[in-house]
Amino acid sequence: MAGLAVSAENAAHVYAVPAEWRARAMIKPDTYDTFYAEAAQDPEAFWKREAQRLDWMTPFTKVKNTSFTEAEFGIKWFEDGALNVSANCLDRHVAERPDAIAIIWEGDEPGDSRIISYRDLHDEVCRLANALKANGIRKGDRVTIYLPMIPEAAAAMLACARIGAIHSVVFGGFSPDSLAGRITDCDSQLVITADEGLRGGKHVPLKANVDKALTHCTSVEKVIVVRRTGADITMKDGRDIWYHDAVADAAPECAAEAMNAEDPLFILYTSGSTGKPKGVLHTTGGYLVWASMTHQYVFDYRPGEVFWCAADVGWVTGHTYVVYGALANGATTLMYEGIPNYPDFSRFWNVIDKYQVEIFYAAPTALRALMREGDAWVERTSRKSLRLLGTVGEPINPEAWEWYHRVVGEGRCPIVDTWWQTETGGAMISPMPGATDLKPGSATKPLFGVKPELVDAEGVVLEGPAEGNLVITDSWPGQARTIWGDHERFFQTYFTTYAGKYFTGDGCRRDGDGYYWITGRVDDVINVSGHRMGTAEIESALVAHAKVAEAAVVGMPHDLKGQGIYAYVTLNANETGDDALRRELVQWVRREIGPIATPDAIQFAAGLPKTRSGKIMRRILRKIAEGDVSNLGDTSTLADPSVVANLVGNRQN
Ligand code: WTA
Repeated sequence: MAGLAVSAENAAHVYAVPAEWRARAMIKPDTYDTFYAEAAQDPEAFWKREAQRLDWMTPFTKVKNTSFTEAEFGIKWFEDGALNVSANCLDRHVAERPDAIAIIWEGDEPGDSRIISYRDLHDEVCRLANALKANGIRKGDRVTIYLPMIPEAAAAMLACARIGAIHSVVFGGFSPDSLAGRITDCDSQLVITADEGLRGGKHVPLKANVDKALTHCTSVEKVIVVRRTGADITMKDGRDIWYHDAVADAAPECAAEAMNAEDPLFILYTSGSTGKPKGVLHTTGGYLVWASMTHQYVFDYRPGEVFWCAADVGWVTGHTYVVYGALANGATTLMYEGIPNYPDFSRFWNVIDKYQVEIFYAAPTALRALMREGDAWVERTSRKSLRLLGTVGEPINPEAWEWYHRVVGEGRCPIVDTWWQTETGGAMISPMPGATDLKPGSATKPLFGVKPELVDAEGVVLEGPAEGNLVITDSWPGQARTIWGDHERFFQTYFTTYAGKYFTGDGCRRDGDGYYWITGRVDDVINVSGHRMGTAEIESALVAHAKVAEAAVVGMPHDLKGQGIYAYVTLNANETGDDALRRELVQWVRREIGPIATPDAIQFAAGLPKTRSGKIMRRILRKIAEGDVSNLGDTSTLADPSVVANLVGNRQN
């Protein structure tokens, strides 16, 4: 509803679109309405036009061919077109602005930095692409990337894209076991890693982790190693190659492979509510259209502006907004290797001043951690260059939103709270700075082509202001196409809970202005510091410990992390649960999965609340972990109702 004032429903304040944004933005309130309506009513025309933002090697004649229903299930966009992602991210910008800055890299240690032009990045990518080919990698092969936040990570992704290899980036915080699982699941032939990572002055033994992982992986033939810290590492003869040697010997020209729009671009493992992490697969054409379009409209991006997405390339946010969306749009993208509080709590703001960052995009968890340290760390910096702020990864509490707006942005920068998922490829529900009045805590309105719906547990569609489960009723170009190696699981996971609709796994409220408020996951996925964790994964890590008989993991509210990890553990007979064992189990989980899965509380439990058919009643465990024990609901169906009193009596925290 263009121009109509938005009410303060659910919000203490509404922040209207500032006049200067209304004047300059690409998407103004009435553009939003026109585009939204067109994408809904005539998707063929809308997406045909939006796809012109890319260079196609073979133009497509078909736009959309998608169905979410069982009989016709399939998702194809631009299916007879061909293009190359790396050519779109590099070559066309090199032709016009070779000296424009593609990547500003800020190292962990202040003062350590690199500035890389589009021409230089193009040459590096071509050399690495040739090196991959020289090491046997061909179109369709899988390459695992396990790197810190260094420019070589972006180069590695683009080099794969250039030759049509499918990359799988694994976050550097994952353990050797987690890495091995992700290598084996997609049969990677080659791993690109570094001797070590550096985060907050701490060294992360990446190459040693790869060596451990590869003791259980048979598919990997070669490992390319970036020298980052110069640490002493072992190089295995015949398998391990230094990155600098590989690229030095390679030519700086490599023709970009013509990829069908539906050829795979990357696999990214993410946690689900059951089983092991799933390899979410994104393809070439639709993903890049979505990454580019959302980056341009949500951030109102124009070439030349310095854009900083503070996510790691190990997560989807890093894929879409550090690398693909940003570079497709010819952006100057800032890559930061370190952490928000090193060497001190002003680091983010110092980096913004150092490079005159205009757009800054980060996770609420980092903002909450910085907010806690007081305003002085922010106020001693200028931040005059900032004009737009963004958040992603978890709901932002209005208090943190207001702080971000008032203290960091000095009241002048709109905040785009972008809701999306690994599976959606890019932002789905988000304000646009020139079009959307803001309500702190709301991701506001759907992007073009996104048709959200709220349904109740039975699938009944809820109209008007309502709260329910969030589904998306029609396909959008950036949507994941499958789960690697398990198309049936893809269909079952996302399209059967509410037949014919994509189920997000999130709960959501819609207010009287049509604004969406994400309330968090409604499945057994928890969101710890903006990182998705499957409770089942942590449980299976715990039960792998010799003393543990059974484990149940739930989320609990956590001031900084959003959600913390609360584990109920039943020990084998004759074992005693004490603090020493608690510490041991915490270390165990960190080793099995990685530090991001560190349990915040471990409660030893004589028994878990189970139904007579043996199903653990997680609802009760969640309430106890939250400390909400006055109203545990109906416990009469439990096989042994007395376990509940015992659990309540022994709460941790
Ligand atoms: C949550 C990250 C509220 C949500 C891009 C989703 C959010 C999950 C927001 C996906 C937001 C992400 N407000 N919740 N702005 N953004 N989420 O796959 O629960 O790592 O389902 O993708 O994060 O996490 P993922």
